Amino acid sequence: MTRTLSGLILAAAVAATLAGCNQQTEVKSDMPPLPASATAPVVYAKDVHSYAQPQIARVKHVDLDLTADFNAKTLSGTATLDVTAEPGATQIILDTRNLDIKAVRGPNGPLQYQVGAADPILGQPLTVTLPAFTAGETLKISIDYSTRPDAAALQWLTPAQTAGGKLPFLFSQGQAILTRTWVPTQDSPGIRQTYSAKITVPDTLKAVMSAEMLTPEGETGSNGTHSYRFRMTNPVPPYLIALAVGDLAFAADGTRTGVWTEPSKLEAAKAEFAEMGQMVDAAEALYGPYRWGRYDLLILPPSFPFGGMENPRLTFATPTVVAGDKSLVSLVAHELAHSWSGNLVTNATWADFWLNEGFTTYFQNRIMEAVYGNARAQQERVLGWDSLQEQLKTLPAADTRLHLDLTGRDPDEGMTDIAYEKGAALLETIERTVGRERFDAWLKGYFERNAFRPMTTELFLQDIRANLIKGDAALESRLQLDAWIYQPGLPSSAVAPTSDAFVAVDNAAKAFFADRGPASAIPWSGWNTQQRQRFLQWRPAGLRDGADWLTNQQLADLEKTLNLKAEGNAEVVFGWLQLAIAHRYEPAVPKLQTFLTSMGRRKFVLPLFTSLWAEGDWGRPIATRIYALARPGYHPVTATSVDALVGAPKG
Ligand code: BES
Ligand code: ZN
Repeated sequence: MTRTLSGLILAAAVAATLAGCNQQTEVKSDMPPLPASATAPVVYAKDVHSYAQPQIARVKHVDLDLTADFNAKTLSGTATLDVTAEPGATQIILDTRNLDIKAVRGPNGPLQYQVGAADPILGQPLTVTLPAFTAGETLKISIDYSTRPDAAALQWLTPAQTAGGKLPFLFSQGQAILTRTWVPTQDSPGIRQTYSAKITVPDTLKAVMSAEMLTPEGETGSNGTHSYRFRMTNPVPPYLIALAVGDLAFAADGTRTGVWTEPSKLEAAKAEFAEMGQMVDAAEALYGPYRWGRYDLLILPPSFPFGGMENPRLTFATPTVVAGDKSLVSLVAHELAHSWSGNLVTNATWADFWLNEGFTTYFQNRIMEAVYGNARAQQERVLGWDSLQEQLKTLPAADTRLHLDLTGRDPDEGMTDIAYEKGAALLETIERTVGRERFDAWLKGYFERNAFRPMTTELFLQDIRANLIKGDAALESRLQLDAWIYQPGLPSSAVAPTSDAFVAVDNAAKAFFADRGPASAIPWSGWNTQQRQRFLQWRPAGLRDGADWLTNQQLADLEKTLNLKAEGNAEVVFGWLQLAIAHRYEPAVPKLQTFLTSMGRRKFVLPLFTSLWAEGDWGRPIATRIYALARPGYHPVTATSVDALVGAPKG
């Protein structure tokens, strides 16, 4: 059955009416109709990170009616779930963590429910006894609940933590399994759900979500509140349900792209991402239609724990990518690419995270190549490859396989360069082997055939064998797919990328670091950010952990000559601070403190604390002191990671 546009609007209107709306706003959907692949039956993979049993009863739609209370730091209200169940099913199991459940209701009154024992990673199963139903019926189950102030997905920012300094801010981060800390649903990436929401916030603030905005201006409510309505008519994995509330302004950029952020940051953000529309066009030209209507970017306050998060229609991003010179825009290419790899074709479980991130990293580089040219894309490929080489040295061999076993572990542990860079390297290898034209045709078809469906490593192998390899035994053996996926490390077919622009950098690095030349000989001002990153990452071969290889005098020369005290590009600052910590270079500690207390991006924060920790008597007291200052500003995702290393500050 193909769904028409008017059918979608009607469905959303019915859903909204059933959810108890008193005011109906007709908004024409800009989302294309769903392809047949969206509704074909799904075989659910076993997800060790969810209590759900979707083969018995599953959630199809989530309707939220929530009020944000910035004093209590809670979201409270009702989640109404559309549920379908197999004949004879007596219960549905949902995922929750740290929620206060007040009541569960069916169409005819209260339903029995039970909240199970809490697992520190998975949270608690919420088992609801189903009312009587007829085969094929959609049941509506309403859960009255409230989040806790320490809900792990949510960060409630004080005005001081925002750019404006006057109003509070709230944002959510669902991936991997944190949506259950603010929405009681089946929180497994293989169980796609449509959603709608009414979010009530103080009058001074605006709510945005990873969905179509039905009431851009909001509707006036009681007690100085405004309500905003949203709908997502494409079925999405629940980790993509996202919300932000704050003093937000919007600047359009072209017809289907634009930027949201705090008013004082809008102009800079708009200028930085002026090529967003071109990126979407380039992505579509490569791998088929963009299926989500608009593509907007939300630049969050600096505590956002990730670089970016591919929430549909509205990528969430750290302000550290607004560098002023477009040097870090590949983050947008990455999150945009997830609109295909991740949001359309989704890892069925977190064991196959590489299907999201590896495909996306490959696709990101293709978008960069199309919009900014091959030289830039190649530089970024090399930086990614280098980072992979470093991680391969330290990860346990079992965790260097693409398909992971995460049983009993936090899915966050799969967030390594293996998924991103080894995954991308596999696709680069296939591309090189079969030629770009053939590879692109396959990849475009892969997204089309599997749109809105969960993907496993096994299904990927089936697809590529059926549609690309097609029984060619010589090709099969050259590709070494099983070795890439199921064996540790990199197979012999992997080829390191190279960049001409790095030749001069490597020469200058050798002259300064190894041959102890003056910093004035480094042609720094002629280099772009990627070249600067490459320079600062240079390490002598065979360096022992903890061994100094520069003198304090050399570091001071470098710091002064390259003006590193005043450096503002977060990637360059990060590279410099890593170098400084490795040498226990005291003069860089104030910059380190400023950096760690001014943003909460885990990719920067955790490695810096880890490096400090590795410096024993010198680094640990510094880490403890700075962490006590920084931790109150961090999102739970970042704080939890650093707690495991430094320990939570007492008191
Ligand atoms: N989806 C990820 C972020 C993520 C992964 C959050 C796993 C939670 C669990 C996002 O697309 C991502 O990879 N972000 C990167 C940026 C990118 C340019 C590599 C980041 O945040 O650093
Ligand atoms: Zn990603």
